[in-house]
Amino acid sequence: MENKMEWWKQTSIYQIYPWSFQDSNGDGIGDLKGILRRLDEIQTLGVETIWFSPFYVSPGEDFGYDIADYTNIDPRFGTMADCEQLIREIHKRKMRVVLDMVMNHTSDKHPWFLESKSSTSNAKRDFYIWKKGTKKPPNNWISMVGKSGWNYDKGTEEYYYSNFLSFQPDLNYRNPRVKKTMFGVLDFWLKKGVDGFRLDIFNSIYKDESFRDNPFSLRFFPTPDNHDEAFFQKKQYNLNLPESFSFAKEVRKHISKYKQKPFLIGEVSGSDQVLKSFLGEKTDGLNLVFQFELIHFSYNADFFRKLLQKNEEIFPTPFTPTYVLGNHDQRRYIDRLGGDIRKAKLLVCFQFMARGVPIVYYGEEIGRKEGKLSNFFGKDPIAKLNRFVPLFLTKLLGIYINRDNCRLPMLWDDSQNAGFTNGKPWLPIETVQASDTVLGQKNDPNSLWKHYQTMFHIRKDFDVVRVGSLEIIHTEEPAILSFERRFKNKRLCVFLNFGKNQKDLNVDMKGKKIYAFGGADWDGKMMHLPEHSGIIIDLQFAKSSNK
Ligand code: GLC
Ligand code: CA
Repeated sequence: MENKMEWWKQTSIYQIYPWSFQDSNGDGIGDLKGILRRLDEIQTLGVETIWFSPFYVSPGEDFGYDIADYTNIDPRFGTMADCEQLIREIHKRKMRVVLDMVMNHTSDKHPWFLESKSSTSNAKRDFYIWKKGTKKPPNNWISMVGKSGWNYDKGTEEYYYSNFLSFQPDLNYRNPRVKKTMFGVLDFWLKKGVDGFRLDIFNSIYKDESFRDNPFSLRFFPTPDNHDEAFFQKKQYNLNLPESFSFAKEVRKHISKYKQKPFLIGEVSGSDQVLKSFLGEKTDGLNLVFQFELIHFSYNADFFRKLLQKNEEIFPTPFTPTYVLGNHDQRRYIDRLGGDIRKAKLLVCFQFMARGVPIVYYGEEIGRKEGKLSNFFGKDPIAKLNRFVPLFLTKLLGIYINRDNCRLPMLWDDSQNAGFTNGKPWLPIETVQASDTVLGQKNDPNSLWKHYQTMFHIRKDFDVVRVGSLEIIHTEEPAILSFERRFKNKRLCVFLNFGKNQKDLNVDMKGKKIYAFGGADWDGKMMHLPEHSGIIIDLQFAKSSNK
């Protein structure tokens, strides 16, 4: 890289949900050998960093987010040798690997918890959060899933705490042995060469030391970027504690000594101020946090303009914003666009050209659709908790319950089971047309897949996109979002028409069109932007700016 900015600020991230990517042995569940087979595809797309949802040993009640052994591979996904090979092969292709690290909790089948639960005097008792109490939970804390976080254990007649589901008991980070053990886990993987960790519900790591009751709040529904006020509670004492902010710095410091310069990306939620506290005022906390604003975008230029403005204001360089359209917990974005590929292209161009790290969830590149599976038959434990809520109601309320629907298998080609498996897929696969699949779209110059490929490659080819500053350009058309990226004497301009009609702009500049979609065009003077079209212009021949 010709510039000095850290690699992880310049990267793009692609999330693989191992259950659903590629099956290699016909059991209907994706696995590491399957992923290995698809690495060339991922490389062709242009991905730089791959983040894997968990594949450690797990009972699978929360599909891997309930870990029973942090340093072994679950047999349903393969072996440690497969994993080592996967890491090697990813690196060979000049890509990087990020593992999902669930530090907040283990599975209740983890040997640590089984020991902890066995008696109040067990050496591992303090690995978890236990409180006395018989008839009534020790305090009013509501977990992220909307029920009391306290779970009664008949055997020892005490409650243990879980900020997510009850089979996911929270580790006790006030116990130095827990910290030491978990740092050991990070070391284990860093020594195997992984390039970073995605930290699961890191906002939940610490709980109030004196277990004070949470105050009342008027809010009921949580949103992806705000869990801290929900279910009529302000979660002052069980989320986003100052101790969690300092712990972010500790973890950062701990991993910094590794030569691959690994990074941390935290799943946290809350106000911008909370996110900033996790990043550290001196950017010495988590390297990145997921920013979930795009999960509930409004499709208009103003929304995106304001988002850029906000990020430049609150997260200016050296902070690095992230842009997330979906993940394994959220409704797929294409669904919110009514399946309109033209609009998707606009959104994605925004996501990749803004200053920050774009994060793509597998299948987004082909516009993989959301499923229509009912909550009642859901495999997802959140669906199991809310079986009787009808699907339409969740849509109406803007909440998301059956996450199976965003975790459906990848669509590779139009052969049986879309090339995902020879067996019975763990989640159903709809009938597909060639044009819904990777293979079909790779051969179509106008496909969404091609658009993603171009976006990944523009980022690779133009360091101004990876490291440049960002400035919003004001045009006379409010429906057009336009911004400029600058680095040294390089300048790159983006124009996106979110409006309903074609817009013609007088754009008299010296430069070269590097990419246009949706019928956009520019002849050096007039720019024509049909609805939902966009264009990227390289102005490197223009006068250099002072920056
Ligand atoms: C995170 C994960 C989610 C999981 C939960 C508990 O939110 O993204 O899938 O269920 O944490 O680990
Ligand atoms: Ca398999």
